[in-house]
Amino acid sequence: MSTKTNQLVIRLLRRIERGDVQSAVIGLGYVGLPLAVELARGGSTVLGLDVDTRKVDAINRGASYIPDVADADVRWLVDAGRLRASSDFSALRQMDTVSICVPTPLRKTRDPDVSYMVSAIEQVAAHLHPGMLVILESTTYPGTTEELVQPMLEATGLQAGRDFFLAFSPERVDPGNPRFNTANVPKVVGGTTDTCAALASALYRRSIDRIVTVRSTKAAEMVKLLENTFRAVNIGLVNEIAMMCDTLGIDVWEVVDAAATKPFGFMAFYPGPGLGGHCIPIDPFYLSWKAKQNGFEARFIELAGQVNGQMPHYVVGKVANALNTQCKAVNGARVLVLGVSYKRDVDDVREAPALDVIRMLREKGAEVSYSDPHVPSLPAHLLNGSPLSSVELDPATLEQFDCAVILTDHQGFDYDLIVAHSQSLVDTRNALGRRSGPGIVRLGAPPPEAGRPRDDRDEGDQRRVA
Ligand SMILES: NC(=O)c1ccc[n+]([C@@H]2O[C@H](COP(=O)([O-])OP(=O)(O)OC[C@H]3O[C@@H](n4cnc5c(N)ncnc54)[C@H](O)[C@@H]3O)[C@@H](O)[C@H]2O)c1
Repeated sequence: MSTKTNQLVIRLLRRIERGDVQSAVIGLGYVGLPLAVELARGGSTVLGLDVDTRKVDAINRGASYIPDVADADVRWLVDAGRLRASSDFSALRQMDTVSICVPTPLRKTRDPDVSYMVSAIEQVAAHLHPGMLVILESTTYPGTTEELVQPMLEATGLQAGRDFFLAFSPERVDPGNPRFNTANVPKVVGGTTDTCAALASALYRRSIDRIVTVRSTKAAEMVKLLENTFRAVNIGLVNEIAMMCDTLGIDVWEVVDAAATKPFGFMAFYPGPGLGGHCIPIDPFYLSWKAKQNGFEARFIELAGQVNGQMPHYVVGKVANALNTQCKAVNGARVLVLGVSYKRDVDDVREAPALDVIRMLREKGAEVSYSDPHVPSLPAHLLNGSPLSSVELDPATLEQFDCAVILTDHQGFDYDLIVAHSQSLVDTRNALGRRSGPGIVRLGAPPPEAGRPRDDRDEGDQRRVA
């Protein structure tokens, strides 16, 4: 390592260790805001940069818009001068480190949309200076840091590993998880050089309990895609098993729970109405796209995508079955969707299967409403039709609908009330547990009457859908 590089490394390390490092986080969403807060807690003075001025204003007011980040945490960091936000990227010139947490969606063709990353990196390149540490956090295909980020930054004349430092460190946050957060989930880091990895690890070690370094940025990118592909494929498998169980008259929920008692070699995944969120439905296609570029066909990913993508159609079939028990058609029926966020107890509707289910039911002529304590409204562009507002769940409301369908098993729902006042009910999440009734249709399970009579029914089992 040259003397000049050595000096840059020592200067940055000293700043990190003394806790007087200036860190920027670009993209203040579900990933960026929690990271900004943890970096500020770990001793950095943090500047959050976002093109969305509403987010910038909220942070500078000391308010959080991410359920997992408390207002109080943002407020005290802002009041203490440890966190501020801006849309003025020229401030990057004063930053020692920058972590990039912008979206990485798919295009309509299911190819990676790298435009957000490119735009953020252009901003970094415009203000890149010797000694700066740049860390990409956005989930992306293996090779992005090396093939896209590094050339864009090196076009400035500065060289990665010599004049500035470059690393990839995937974010693994699980929104709504009360146990695991940005600080206590081990953080994987891969650097363009070993020194780059060491500097990124030194920065994050002050905020995050455990750092795991891998030998390259490519390996770090692949780690995140393996994790999310593992989930997508296993969910695809269990969704297929659920549809198979329906055909065979077996209760998939009972089967998975019993299989999960095996203390080794099995991990429980549960079926549902389809994949949602910004990660699992999208990230595996970043990997299959990259594999295809290299002449490799990622068959598991494609197959899981097909099975998981079929689930909203399957759910609409279940609604039709439930209506059928009342001699009603989907066309003209009033259907209430319970839960529209992509998973329990969060407010995120990105890629949520509920959006597909609502669109399909409307296409078949159903009149659809929804109730979700976390999502007050759904704009028209998400539904390809008129917008919707969440309705209150009370007996009178439930009784107005021909069918209710549970798509997200929020803990705030009163399932006894739902069972007692729904004319028919589809449960895609096993939210009703052992509650049963003639009007209940469950995904992946035959009606209880079709199976062996049960002698262990609790009070909930005795409730009947009207
Ligand atoms: N949400 C999750 O659970 C999760 C978990 C792990 C990893 N990730 C990954 O992290 C990345 C970010 O995801 P997210 O959920 O935080 O997204 P998000 O949409 O919640 O936040 C992204 C933010 O970036 C901002 N932004 C977009 N372009 C910008 C630009 N050029 N400059 C500055 N700001 C810009 C947006 O305004 C938004 O505030 C994605 O790659 C995602 O796959 C997400």
